[in-house]
Amino acid sequence: MVNTFWSETVQSTQLLDTSRKEKFNVYNRKLWFNLLHIQNNLKILEVGCGSGHFANMIKKYYPTCDVYGIDLDNNHIKFAKNESKRLNIDVNYQVADVSHLPFEDNSFDIVFSHTLIEHLPFDDFIKEQKRVLKKGGKLVIMRVDMIKNNDKPFLYLEDEINKVYSGISYPKIAGVGEYVEDPDLTMQRLYQYNFKNINFNYNRIIYYMPDVESKKQIAISQIERNYQTKLSYANFVINKSKVDSNTKNKLLSLLKSQYEERLRLLVAKQKIFDFQSSLLITISANK
Ligand SMILES: C[S@@+](CC[C@H](N)C(=O)[O-])C[C@H]1O[C@@H](n2cnc3c(N)ncnc32)[C@H](O)[C@@H]1O
Repeated sequence: MVNTFWSETVQSTQLLDTSRKEKFNVYNRKLWFNLLHIQNNLKILEVGCGSGHFANMIKKYYPTCDVYGIDLDNNHIKFAKNESKRLNIDVNYQVADVSHLPFEDNSFDIVFSHTLIEHLPFDDFIKEQKRVLKKGGKLVIMRVDMIKNNDKPFLYLEDEINKVYSGISYPKIAGVGEYVEDPDLTMQRLYQYNFKNINFNYNRIIYYMPDVESKKQIAISQIERNYQTKLSYANFVINKSKVDSNTKNKLLSLLKSQYEERLRLLVAKQKIFDFQSSLLITISANK
């Protein structure tokens, strides 16, 4: 059965992909790989891989690894396959449910997920990951802590943009993020599942900081990625909520003006030191 619930209801594949490309960049790449315990010659599975950005980057920078990605959503997997072809790398993607993995027992060195655990009951999330991990293999669970942070995003026209969004009715989606829980509880559950070496990390991933950038080209690309993420989100909301063309044009034109103003300031060397980050929770354990 074709499943496109996530890509059509929660987050388009494009939005997911641009936001991941924004968050995982040349500056924080090493941190992501360290947290995931990536080394050469490992067999690695990403569950709930979405558009495949993380799995693709692992294969790109660790070509000796055997990399697999599964996701429930057909559109995401189609995109991930195309993207790996475009990058000329060989990642094995399949549509599958994390609670019914199409792999043999004890077959992976690392099984990891990023922002999946909060969307389904823990037993459904963990049972099969444990089964397919080799004895001694590493489980890595990542998710974002949504607590308020001290980010200083670029605020030019932000009130006007928020005003347009507040006039668009966009219903909350049932089931999404329903199982979010404190990390100590997740660690206790892993302990009950007999995982060893249970470990915990908090990391702030700063993914946008154009004025702290020494290379202008990288600063420009951060501003562009930031705009692409905002644009993908706006387009998703516009399509889902059947927004009228006036509202649509207003929102898109405000976002474009905001982007152009940010670029103008950069080129004019008017530093404002805006930045954006996310607080990453990583829990790891051995089978
Ligand atoms: C928030 S997205 C994260 C995607 C990806 N890990 C990333 O961070 O870019 C959650 C993903 O989990 C997938 N998903 C939800 N339930 C799933 C399940 N039972 N089995 C496999 N994937 C699932 C969704 O299709 C979606 O792609």
